[in-house]
Order: sequence, then structure tokens, then C-alpha cells
Amino acid sequence: LNTHEPLTTLVHVTDAHITRSTRRTATLKHRSVEIVDDLLPQIEALSPEAVIFGGDNIDNRERGEEDLALFAERLERVRRPLVVAGNHEAPARAQRSVSKSAFLERMARWTNYPELGCFSESFGDVRVIGIDTTLEGTTGGFVAPATMAFLANALRTAEESHIVVVGHHPLHPVWFPRRIEAWDRAYLVANREMVVALLASCARVRVYLCGHHHGSRVDRLASRGHSGGFYQILSPSASAFPHGARVLRFGPNGLQLDRIRPTIPGLLDEGARAVVTGGKAALFARFGSASDVLPYVRGRSIDNQVFLPYHAAPRSHRIASGVLAVSEAR
Ligand SMILES: [Fe+2]
Repeated sequence: LNTHEPLTTLVHVTDAHITRSTRRTATLKHRSVEIVDDLLPQIEALSPEAVIFGGDNIDNRERGEEDLALFAERLERVRRPLVVAGNHEAPARAQRSVSKSAFLERMARWTNYPELGCFSESFGDVRVIGIDTTLEGTTGGFVAPATMAFLANALRTAEESHIVVVGHHPLHPVWFPRRIEAWDRAYLVANREMVVALLASCARVRVYLCGHHHGSRVDRLASRGHSGGFYQILSPSASAFPHGARVLRFGPNGLQLDRIRPTIPGLLDEGARAVVTGGKAALFARFGSASDVLPYVRGRSIDNQVFLPYHAAPRSHRIASGVLAVSEAR
């Protein structure tokens, strides 16, 4: 077992979809407030340097202002929150929703580049750079030219040994080796090749941290053979099975990935039952079985509790054709 003195602890809470709406979906949005209220004291007990809220923090469909107020109230309980927006914070119509600009304005306290919806913050030896990957009116992702310039500059001027970049949308199809073009459009950053190339150009980028897909997955991106590259860590939605928040502890040679899950009795079972009714399950039914969606979103043990060396992926994350993990380690 790899052990090390932790230097910096970060927590990633994403896709909380905070709302008091009672609409039933594959995500337990109607229990989102209760779930976040269960997670936050567990998180603060770890005394993390920062808690990163990864987008779709509010559901923002029917009661936008109320959802935003509930979220803002909870941010007050966190010693050091950092926030990026998700597609739910960048709605097409703003009738009953809060607009992206109104959301970012409210978050200005926590984002040091509020006009871009971005931040760059240093915690000991770790720099955390947040980028806005949303494109108003779409669910898919896009990194706008101004954001790309911001990211390039933040990477170039970072002096820390380790860099973490956070955005809402994944850069890599975590459903590999399945090919699902509709999911590429709905979930990924459209101009991901540029973003991956930029991140790979900085050897101290350790992790790209994302959400949006409501699943748990660790992949190694942009490797050459068994060296180079960085991890994409997809964190589960707080409010959808398998539920929870990611804990990342950065040591000198690698990071330890762990998770915190809600302690509410029966919640995980209810979450699992809800996922099986959703769109992902419908697609998995076409591949064979709807219930296959559960191990898919839960991830493997190597997607949940694992030590990730910085310079090369562990053997369990065998690298195929310059990209990613295909082996099952259970
Ligand atoms: Fe999303």
C-alpha cells in the first residue's frame, strides 16, 4: 500500500441539483437538500483546504431563485468553497430559472474571475484552476476562446508542483469502449481535443476533475505509452446513485482518492432504484440489460478508492492506444 504524508486535501461535490422541487427523475433531486446537509458536516470534519462545487449545483428548472438561495445558504457553512457552473446554471430560457450571469454574479465572492466564471487558487503545493465549460442553452460542453486563454495563462504562471483543473463537462468518453455518439454530444466538451492538448502541455497538471455524467470513473488521458498524461476523474452526482463526494489528498508522488457518501438510511437503495428508471438505463437496456447501469455508474474499485501516482497510471489503469483504462479490477 502506498502511504504518504498528505499535503493538501480537496473535496469535490458535483451535480447536487439542489432544489425543493418534488419532480421525480433518475436523480433524487427531491432529496437533494437533505443529502447535501448530510454530506457537508462529514466534509468539514476532514478540514479540507477547499471544497469544490462542480456545477449543476442547483437544479434551476422550476424554482431557480429558491434553489440558488438554498445553495448560497449552504456555501456559508463551508470554510473555503470554490464554484464552477454547470449546464443547469446556464439555462436556455430564464423564465423560472436563474440566468448564468445572475448565477455567476451571486458566486462572485467565490470565483476570482467572475466575469469568466473561472478561478485560480493556490493551496500549499496545489493550484486549483476552475473553468466554465458551459454553453448557454445546451447540455453539452464548450470551452470558449476567452476561457481557453485564461486557462493557458493560469497554467503558464502557476508555480505549484501540482495542478488540478476543474470543469463541469468531461473531456473523455467514460463509456469507452462503447461508442455512443448521442452521449458524446450531450456530455463532452465539444472542443475537447484542444483542451486535452493544452492540459497535456503542462507536465504538472495531475487531474482534470469533472461531473455532469452522474457516474464514477478514473481514466488516464494523453499518455504516451506508459508515461505522460493526467487523470480525468469523473465524480458522481451527490444526488444520484452511487451518491457522494470525492476526497483527493495530494502527496508528493501521487494522490489518494476516497469518497464520502450520505449516511441517510435507505437512500442508496432508493437512488439505485431511481437510476434504473432513467435514460442511461434505457440505453443500457438496448445493449442488453437496464440493470447493467448500476455497476456502470458505481464504477470499479479503482474508480473510487485508489492511490493514483502522478507520473504514470497504476497497472490497474492499463493504457490503451494513448488513452485509457480498460481493465476491470474486482
Ligand atoms: Fe450537468
